[in-house]
Amino acid sequence: PKRVRTRHFHNAKREGIPITGLTSYDMLTAQIFDQAGIDFLLVGDSAGNNVFGYETTLPVTVDELIPLTRAVARAVTRALVVADMPFGSYESGADQALSTAVRFMKEAQAHAVKLEGGVRSHKQIKRIVSAGIPVMGHVGFTPQSEHGLGGHIIQGRGDAAKNLIDDALAVQEAGAFAVVLEMVPGSVAAQVTAALEIPTIGVGAGPSVDGQLLVWTDFAGMTEGRVPRFVRQYANLRQVLTDAVHNFRDDVNSGAYPAPEHNYE
Ligand code: KIV
Ligand code: NA
Repeated sequence: PKRVRTRHFHNAKREGIPITGLTSYDMLTAQIFDQAGIDFLLVGDSAGNNVFGYETTLPVTVDELIPLTRAVARAVTRALVVADMPFGSYESGADQALSTAVRFMKEAQAHAVKLEGGVRSHKQIKRIVSAGIPVMGHVGFTPQSEHGLGGHIIQGRGDAAKNLIDDALAVQEAGAFAVVLEMVPGSVAAQVTAALEIPTIGVGAGPSVDGQLLVWTDFAGMTEGRVPRFVRQYANLRQVLTDAVHNFRDDVNSGAYPAPEHNYE
């Protein structure tokens, strides 16, 4: 299959074809999602929660994400692989941001990077783009600033809609090829989408955006406990695996496994 390029994102918005994205942190899920035709795979710093077992994304390091990104990039033949720049790897300025982006491109063979923030990240995005590295922006609820934002709170409500639009415009002006809108009211996401030439990718931003992104462990029902209200669970993998492992343990205890056909003679 022909690889997805940033040009595909641009054309998709123009032609009204929705863009699909999922997170992935490993080779097996990357293969499955790529073969199913998902347009882009985000190696999110949500790996902090879903791979490394941290309570937030804040502790995740570039050194932790690089091997995961490399595994995903190796596994795909079509999808565009986006490396998420973790907290602390770009805030100091454009130089730091470019060095981090270069590491993801060089050491992990990512196809693009993502970083959080609109107006506040403008100079970082601009510098990375000027080096020939595609950037996906991320505005609205930005998990790396959850302590500053005061928790997992919907962004862009009421008077804050104007700031959100300004942030999205700053991302576009800096040269990003797309922008993630996380947890914003659908009506505001629609306004942002209409105001931008680059595609908007919603995660909890309603239907009037140019694409949809979900965290794979949420969409597939792997996550323990509640998932955010905006998630539709397309499978119940946690239950499937739980049943499988109980059956394995019971079969070993009862002697039902291994059976004669599993035995080398
Ligand atoms: O890390 C992540 O999974 C993300 C998406 C939820 C946007 O940044
Ligand atoms: Na992230």
